[in-house]
Amino acid sequence: CGIVGVIGKKDTTEILLNGLQKLEYRGYDSAGIYVNDQAGHDYLVKEKGKIAELDKAVGPEVQGTMGIGHTRWATHGEPSHDNAHPQVSASGRFYLVHNGVINNYQDLKAQYLKGVHFVSSTDTEVAVQLIAELVEDGGMDTESAFRKALSLIDGSYAFLLVDREQPDKLFVAKNKSPLLIGVGDGFNVVCSDALAMVAQTKDFVELHDGEMVVVTKDKISITDENNQPVERKPYTVNIDASDISKGTYPYYMLKEIDEQPNVLRRLVSEYMNEDGSFNFDPKLIEALREADKLYIVAAGTSYHAGLVGKPIIEEVAKIPVEVELASEFGYHMPLLSKKPFFIYLTQSGETADSRQVLVKTNALGYPSLTITNVEASTLSREADYTILLHAGPEIAVASTKAYTAQITIEAMLAKALAVVNNVPGAEDFDLKYQLSLAANGMQTIVDAKADLEQLAHEFFANTRNAFYIGRGIDYWASLEASLKLKEVSYIQAEGFAAGELKHGTISLIENGTPVAAIITDKETASHTRGNVQEVEARGAKTLKIVSEDLAKPGDQIVVPTLDTVLSPLVSIVPTQLLAYYATLQRGYNVDQPRNLAKSVTVE
Ligand code: G6P
Repeated sequence: CGIVGVIGKKDTTEILLNGLQKLEYRGYDSAGIYVNDQAGHDYLVKEKGKIAELDKAVGPEVQGTMGIGHTRWATHGEPSHDNAHPQVSASGRFYLVHNGVINNYQDLKAQYLKGVHFVSSTDTEVAVQLIAELVEDGGMDTESAFRKALSLIDGSYAFLLVDREQPDKLFVAKNKSPLLIGVGDGFNVVCSDALAMVAQTKDFVELHDGEMVVVTKDKISITDENNQPVERKPYTVNIDASDISKGTYPYYMLKEIDEQPNVLRRLVSEYMNEDGSFNFDPKLIEALREADKLYIVAAGTSYHAGLVGKPIIEEVAKIPVEVELASEFGYHMPLLSKKPFFIYLTQSGETADSRQVLVKTNALGYPSLTITNVEASTLSREADYTILLHAGPEIAVASTKAYTAQITIEAMLAKALAVVNNVPGAEDFDLKYQLSLAANGMQTIVDAKADLEQLAHEFFANTRNAFYIGRGIDYWASLEASLKLKEVSYIQAEGFAAGELKHGTISLIENGTPVAAIITDKETASHTRGNVQEVEARGAKTLKIVSEDLAKPGDQIVVPTLDTVLSPLVSIVPTQLLAYYATLQRGYNVDQPRNLAKSVTVE
């Protein structure tokens, strides 16, 4: 979910709607705003569906000088008008938007809210009714009631509360879910992500778990759990308004796929010096060197980037690596090595599944690094070290440029470690040269869009299922290629280890089933080609994505040859474009696939 708030601006409604639009990637099943003109008029508008629906429902009369807004990704309660936020107390006095999950909402309801009439099935309504109850029946002032409610709530939250009897204040609280206060001149804003408000201000104050804030148009008063005042300076974000516009592109996903060669070049200039040394914190490199094993923890596409990182780091730096799904690792921590080092891969820096592992490894005292695209994000703040992906805001829900940027950083770390550890052969791994080949190769692929659009049509426009297969590094790329296809086009796409086909999956092959093979590894190429023949013999329609050195007549997609462990940097790009075009051909919104959110801040 995404949250916005503003106080002290005449164009509150526009600011809220624009902000929500920028946060739409966080969820888009329903949305709402509450606006108050501080002169006795206020408005609540909620709609099921996307922000565009809300926009249509907001009439010209909805104007004010303060307000709050929310875009929702349902956790408790289906997407509907009643379940959309802001949630309102029965008395109509309190309005609340919430991102997170209240674990004990049923207990709170049973204990404190007997007899109260509920209109939604959200956990959020319990919170707003509870605050109202404490004020209206308990005689507390709003700030104390809010604080009391926070102490009773068990769960994660970013809350933004309005008391319509005090429209000169926004009441704010945060625990586990991201929330920032943006500092303006004569106004202030609140948002889940700086992206939503960079058009208003570049200066943001981060909030820590357990803090509560009272925001007026010219004051931000933060207090900690014990009601002690907290002083915190704002930081300045480096986001350009043009980074978050689609420009001439029809969709963000296509823009972001196209940006990959530039992201790669930017990473080289950020982190690699002329003399071959790296601009990484020497303390980080030292801490990595001291580890006997690296644990990469991630979710979704970032997990797939981690899977590629393992062979890169193991082969180049000769350090053992384990790659773990955050949502599993948090609850079933394996036996760890003696000196583990944790690497958190996360585009957003906010994924709750990854963060709960970081909280645990921090408590155990293990060193950590977050590799993220978002400066000052939660995982970045809470890890010992951060490396930024410098990919520019990634807005399409399906991750593309963050994946290739993450692999690039993993390769740079591998090389940096190999050099300081004097690993034999480290000098032969000419990363700068490889990355320049990769960037040029990506460019050639994105320039050949028309061919990929045609292939997407031929293979994926009308199918119910599809498979990607590969061995070794090509298997890891196949997992990401199939995730891309399934998450946006809704084709049931799976990635398989090519050699495993005959042990089960091959029974799924029917006449015309599309099977795409990724072949970039000399060692395994002929075996994978053998598997291609096996599925062809059973009626599959096959598509081959092959590196130049291994290409044969009839291979439909040829990608430049890189050092094998780096090949996903280029082999993934055509699969991103195939997913993109297949989705458009099937008539879906490629930037906002159903049921998904880009940044999942609930476990
Ligand atoms: C969500 C997104 C995925 C993303 C995953 C991890 O599920 O829909 O595209 O890969 O979260 O996100 P992160 O920001 O931690 O990389």
